[in-house]
Amino acid sequence: KKVVLAYSGGLDTSAIVPWLKENYDCEVVAFVADVGQGADELAGVEAKAKASGASECHVVDLKDVFVKDYIYPTLKTGAIYEGTYLLGTAMARPIIAKAQVEVARKVGADALAHGCTGKGNDQVRFESCYAALAPDLQVIAPWREWSLDSRESLLNYLAERHIPCSASATKIYSRDANAWHISHEGGELEDLWCEPSEQVWTLTQSPEQAPDQPEYVTVAIAAGEIKSINGDALSPYDCLETLNQLAAKHGVGRVDIVENRLVGMKSRGCYETPGGTVMMTALQAIDELVLDKASRSWKASLSEQFAQLLYDGRWFTPLKQSVLAGAEALTMRASGDVVLKLYKGQVTAVKKRSPYSLYSEDFATFGADEVYNQQHAEGFIRLFSLPSRIAALQQQGGVDG
Ligand code: ARG
Ligand code: SIN
Repeated sequence: KKVVLAYSGGLDTSAIVPWLKENYDCEVVAFVADVGQGADELAGVEAKAKASGASECHVVDLKDVFVKDYIYPTLKTGAIYEGTYLLGTAMARPIIAKAQVEVARKVGADALAHGCTGKGNDQVRFESCYAALAPDLQVIAPWREWSLDSRESLLNYLAERHIPCSASATKIYSRDANAWHISHEGGELEDLWCEPSEQVWTLTQSPEQAPDQPEYVTVAIAAGEIKSINGDALSPYDCLETLNQLAAKHGVGRVDIVENRLVGMKSRGCYETPGGTVMMTALQAIDELVLDKASRSWKASLSEQFAQLLYDGRWFTPLKQSVLAGAEALTMRASGDVVLKLYKGQVTAVKKRSPYSLYSEDFATFGADEVYNQQHAEGFIRLFSLPSRIAALQQQGGVDG
């Protein structure tokens, strides 16, 4: 029996390797997805996996595909969960699951395993993706089975088996990092009457410490995709990396929210999404110019639908295809340039233009104009308000029903 484990190099998945071998009498193949979590997390990960007892370790570089095929499409939909969360962890799960299944096929595995707890969203996301891509493979979720419920017990478990592990007994926060964001949960954050300390944040400068001078960045957008930064044409991944650095320096992209998990409970999360926050702001600025009122309202519905399905792990479904196709149809005119101002935790779109802009100074001006006949408004309002007029007249007994 062979199991492919989504391995991170952290304490939990390090303990899962020997646990699987003992409890499932199997060979364990470690799979590590590089989704841009950074060199620190990836350093020595192969050696660690082998030291834990994995027979092989496959590290797969998914950075470019992650941004191009998961983040950029999601940006086109404008999805934001519960008004604030930019879905960084949710976007990474489908690409990790897909690559994990590919490794499982390559090595001829019978089962897939992950290190998610039984209380979170991630278990649902991974296993929903497995179900769609590899319904024949068994799924093993050790956190739902074992009785190792603290860091101490995990460390003891490894020590008893003489497996080296550099993890410390105290690790305050549960974090999840990738090219788009880092999330922080647990520790003092579980108390809602507690402001996150500076040690929570790892990616961005605090707005208080950010430079006193604002910085401007120009973003060029074509058909809903960010193509260049300050005039340099870059790949999607490089666009994101460039904006991450600029925005992090100015403390842009921190949020601290209480969200509804799919499994029912509320949880508190702090998120840092520097470049992503700039990207979202730039795309919204272009939408303001090119979408009419009804289209914006429809886009908002699509955004909400996409945020829900993505958060809930329904990436590999016809529903996702359908909502995405709807959003893509609205990006045909989403092209132009936006100048963003980064300053002490804020990003503001201060200049925007588009060849497809529906904004016209000639129409909008409050000054004298030649293009809009104000007398036409009277008839429009008469008909627009006709239902109210009829209802009111009916109340007064003036209309026979
Ligand atoms: N609450 C966020 C979400 O559900 C972040 C989850 C973080 N996951 C983790 N394994 N630390 O998307
Ligand atoms: C976990 O429980 O494994 C992380 C948090 C989540 O999935 O929501």
